[in-house]
Amino acid sequence: MSFFNEVYGSWKDKQLSKYEELVPKMKRCLGKSESVLDIGIGRAWLWKYLKEEGFGFKRIDGVDISREATEPELDGVNYVYIDGSSKDFNLSQELEIDGYDLVFAFDSVHLIDYEDELPGLVKDGGFLLQAVPLRFRKEIKIYREMEVVEQGEIGVEEIDRFVLQGKSD
Ligand SMILES: C[S@@+](CC[C@H](N)C(=O)[O-])C[C@H]1O[C@@H](n2cnc3c(N)ncnc32)[C@H](O)[C@@H]1O
Repeated sequence: MSFFNEVYGSWKDKQLSKYEELVPKMKRCLGKSESVLDIGIGRAWLWKYLKEEGFGFKRIDGVDISREATEPELDGVNYVYIDGSSKDFNLSQELEIDGYDLVFAFDSVHLIDYEDELPGLVKDGGFLLQAVPLRFRKEIKIYREMEVVEQGEIGVEEIDRFVLQGKSD
């Protein structure tokens, strides 16, 4: 196992404790979302957890810059590997569909330069979830065209700030 995988693998429990606190706060929108996009999907622990909790999705697109970070890939996820470093990079051009019921940027919004694209990837009536460790909380952008429906802090070993925004129909 590479050093990267060992370090990343050791984060699993701290990520799971955040999901456990977040999911009850999002039950309403998780239950009605069919198409989801995960920016910085990593090992897809969130989607394994949601499956175990009984949630099902018709389409899960997972974006990442690193194949090593996503290994082993999770069945049922469409992986989209990007090189987000170019100035002209445009995420929507890499995706097969125009909009999603739910866009997740979980512990990744502080790593991306294309955050202004996020609201445009959410369908009318859909939701955007951003979460980051507290030290990066200033990286969460509140998008004016969307309403804040839930926000707060989650986690035990590491505390995250999260903001859930919804787009009107
Ligand atoms: C801290 S991990 C979080 C992984 C996952 N969201 C979770 O909850 O465990 C950040 C992930 O974002 C990916 N990443 C880094 N820069 C990125 C970018 N510009 N676009 C998409 N993913 C990126 C990393 O490879 C890594 O898998």
